[in-house]
Amino acid sequence: MTTLDDNALKLYSFQVFSKLEGAVTAGMIHLGDQLGLYVALAEADTPITTHELAERTALDERWVREWAHNQAAAKLITVDEGRFGLTPEAAAVLASPEHPAYGMGMFHRLPQTMRALEDVRESFRTGIGHDYDSHGPQGAVGIERSFEPWSNANLLPVVLPAIEGLVERMRTGASVADIGCGAGSAVLLMAAAFPHSQFRGYDISQYALARAALKLEESGLHNAEFHDPREVPLPDDQTLDFITTFDCIHDMTRPSEMMKAIRRAIKPDGVWLLVDIKALDTFEENARKNPMAPLMYGISVLSCMSSALSEEGGEGLGTLGLSENKARAMTQAAGFTRFEKLPIDHAVNAFYLVQP
Ligand SMILES: C[S@@+](CC[C@H](N)C(=O)[O-])C[C@H]1O[C@@H](n2cnc3c(N)ncnc32)[C@H](O)[C@@H]1O
Repeated sequence: MTTLDDNALKLYSFQVFSKLEGAVTAGMIHLGDQLGLYVALAEADTPITTHELAERTALDERWVREWAHNQAAAKLITVDEGRFGLTPEAAAVLASPEHPAYGMGMFHRLPQTMRALEDVRESFRTGIGHDYDSHGPQGAVGIERSFEPWSNANLLPVVLPAIEGLVERMRTGASVADIGCGAGSAVLLMAAAFPHSQFRGYDISQYALARAALKLEESGLHNAEFHDPREVPLPDDQTLDFITTFDCIHDMTRPSEMMKAIRRAIKPDGVWLLVDIKALDTFEENARKNPMAPLMYGISVLSCMSSALSEEGGEGLGTLGLSENKARAMTQAAGFTRFEKLPIDHAVNAFYLVQP
């Protein structure tokens, strides 16, 4: 039997178990969000005891105390002489849905994402994955909560003005489609801001479409609609001025076909805003330059690549599957000639302007 280096063994075991610590603490973050613990900490003017936290959340103190000890040990919340609190930065990420750095969406859907561990075992054998609806209705809410904060803060003031002439065109009256629209946040934001334009959101998730329909009804807007593209396909007569795809091309089973459909739908002088993960060309580059690469390859197995392989013959791009070079080549193959990266700062995403 090979002799093991004691120190290397201890270090490696620590490395493995620190992943489990991360996973379990992520579960505790989910609870902190769902049980209102972070909001209660944020709303307290000064740090509070677990008795006060339990009282404000109507929870049992013993359970709240053990949770707070996990969070403070993980240095996610502060502790000083038995009083727990949030730094302003922690409050932004954990308890402020209106802040662009708010991060609770991915933790909202953590149980659904982890439940996929059971489904994908079979996928490793068959090659066939599962679409977004396999994560259930709360999966769609998690996606909505993940993408809305940044979009609410940046879509209208930063992203649209970065495309020359677009805002004026939408003010006058444009036909717009958001493909892979999820719960419709981007469509509804734009539809409210540009009442002379017409908006269509397309998604294949019935849970996301149901959320979008509900939010549309609540908004009272009359210039937006939502469809499943398998029932109501995109127009194929070059009539759309502006098309957006936010974080969804890499999730599609047939992204090349979708790009061709976008080419058939868009006006000769139309604009496609392709937003996708800032992936690099090779695994080696992603692993070296992206500290979140392990998270992203894992989410790909559980969600993105699984969705992109959810039909026979799926292209299976996955979370880090659409680098800038790949996106340029694929859009060119679909008949687009202009491809330009926009100077928009985002932690995870790249923004490309694509035109016929
Ligand atoms: C990561 S979510 C992004 C949702 C939304 N764009 C947002 O930013 O909140 C990806 C979405 O793409 C949708 N999707 C996957 N394949 C699709 C297809 N072929 N056509 C339309 N939507 C698709 C999924 O159902 C899911 O809602």
